[in-house]
Amino acid sequence: MFKFLSGLFSRDIGIDLGSANIVVYVKGRGITIDEPSVLAVRNMGRKGKKEVIAFGHPAKRMIGKTPVGIETVRPLQHGVIADFDMTEQMVGHYMAAANQGRRMMAHPRVAICVPACVTEVEKRAVVDATLGAGAREAFVVEEPLAAALGTGLPINEPRGNMVVDIGGGTSEVAVLSLGGVVISNSLRAAGDDLDSAIVSMLRQNYTLSIGESTAEEVKFEIGSVIPLEEELEMEVKGRDLMDGLPKVVKVTSMEVREAIEPIICRIEDMLRYAVEQTPPELVKDIVDQGLVLTGGSALLRGLNMRFSDVMNVPVHMAEQPLLSVALGLGKLLETVDRGDKISVTVDHSTV
Ligand SMILES: Nc1ncnc2c1ncn2[C@@H]1O[C@H](COP(=O)(O)OP(=O)(O)OP(=O)(O)O)[C@@H](O)[C@H]1O
Ligand SMILES: [Mg+2]
Repeated sequence: MFKFLSGLFSRDIGIDLGSANIVVYVKGRGITIDEPSVLAVRNMGRKGKKEVIAFGHPAKRMIGKTPVGIETVRPLQHGVIADFDMTEQMVGHYMAAANQGRRMMAHPRVAICVPACVTEVEKRAVVDATLGAGAREAFVVEEPLAAALGTGLPINEPRGNMVVDIGGGTSEVAVLSLGGVVISNSLRAAGDDLDSAIVSMLRQNYTLSIGESTAEEVKFEIGSVIPLEEELEMEVKGRDLMDGLPKVVKVTSMEVREAIEPIICRIEDMLRYAVEQTPPELVKDIVDQGLVLTGGSALLRGLNMRFSDVMNVPVHMAEQPLLSVALGLGKLLETVDRGDKISVTVDHSTV
């Protein structure tokens, strides 16, 4: 009853609960939160109790740099909940922040995204975490659907719309038509795996040990998937595995490209397989209109050109690849009450 009453004072919100980033859309206000899905916790005594000391950007800055007794946690891995308690705390924190810090009153209706590949049990865990965090209702929306809406694809038309979302933990492709998903395919490999491939390459080629944040920096600075007109290089600092001392090595964009190649090939196989499964009439539309590429890893140098080559269709980059899913959720929230015709299938759960 209290949840119901206080919910009347909360605005509906949409949450893109990603493996790398959590983005929150507040109805009538737009995107108000865009933070890494990371927490820093202090271990309290023998009973295994944990106290959260930082969320988001400050917590991400602590990765790999914490003293004894403090650890950083990424509660979502490959698009699914790996640490339930921490997910609940994170969702609760950002729900309150979206409600301008009034945690007691933060009982909104929440539309939340899960990758299309998750099992019913994994989906249920997301709903439970959202309700546990204080939401009075939770709607689960398939991520490719929200991504397609967010990039402005006309998904309600009888037309094949293909959207490819390469995030931190999952890569997904979906073909949508008449407001629904016709086929979808996903792979639990994306940006995080590119970072791990860079860590392994540096270990093997240079006996250099680096952390995941440094690997991500290398990816941002010199990562690419096609030969560059002018190849790049950067200095990478870490610890020598042979003598345990600090070491600096020069790494080139060619080496990084070679390291991440196997993962890019797996993503391409996923795309090919999706086209094989798509009905021919919809494939024809995709050949004409092309596909839309979104998700943070879409920003990798040359990915759009490479996909365009492999798939033989035009590739359009989303305007805001890191925000598409949340913008799509926003469109759903803004239109649902007005009774507009966005006919999406959503799972619905209430307390
Ligand atoms: N400029 C860039 N170049 C390459 N990769 C990038 C760039 N900017 C962000 N990324 C990568 O994008 C990923 C995060 O993307 P995004 O926020 O879409 O993922 P997510 O939605 O949290 O994850 P998922 O949907 O897989 O659960 C990270 O792996 C990050 O390293
Ligand atoms: Mg995502």
